[in-house]
Amino acid sequence: MNEATQRLFFALWPDASTSDALATLARQVAAESGGRPTAPGNGHLTLAFLGDQPRRVARELSAAAARISAPSFDLVLDSVDSWRKNAIAWAGVQSVPLPLVELQQKIARSLLVSGLEPDERPFAVHVTLARSITVAVRRALAPPLVWRVTAFALVASELDAAGARYRVLSSWPLAQRPHDDREVAQK
Ligand code: 2AM
Repeated sequence: MNEATQRLFFALWPDASTSDALATLARQVAAESGGRPTAPGNGHLTLAFLGDQPRRVARELSAAAARISAPSFDLVLDSVDSWRKNAIAWAGVQSVPLPLVELQQKIARSLLVSGLEPDERPFAVHVTLARSITVAVRRALAPPLVWRVTAFALVASELDAAGARYRVLSSWPLAQRPHDDREVAQK
């Protein structure tokens, strides 16, 4: 990557307690699978990978992302699985929330409008937990890790001596649900 470009992706970025829970899970799954855990604080769910882009594109994408309107939702991570092809273990969902699919489609459309090629691969809902695994893992995650998703982010991937570091450049809130039964019940 040269200085004028940044390696970018849109992602769901966890709040601090979800980030801690992902780091704990990553350590467990790395031990099970013989892999290297995702560094604490690096856990996320990629919505669209953009690769190296000029800073101008980051600004354009930020302006487009700010116009996206979508609701918040719960992401119930209830399975651990792995891919042999890239030796990755990941957390996933048995049921993909519709608001997640719609948010990802809105972002994909805004990429097209900005003249970027969408990823040819279909959107695969996963949170990478461990890399370079040597033993496949596939199991339920019980109890599930419930991630309340209230924002999405544009993130830069930067390499340093310790490996990839991710830096949130901007994030945009998702609308709160108009009626939240739990909140009503607590009043
Ligand atoms: P992964 O977690 O499955 O490796 C930043 O690199 C994020 O973008 C990672 O979460 C990575 O997914 C995802 N990503 C998707 N396509 C990528 C690509 N071609 N190269 C690097 N990362 C990619």
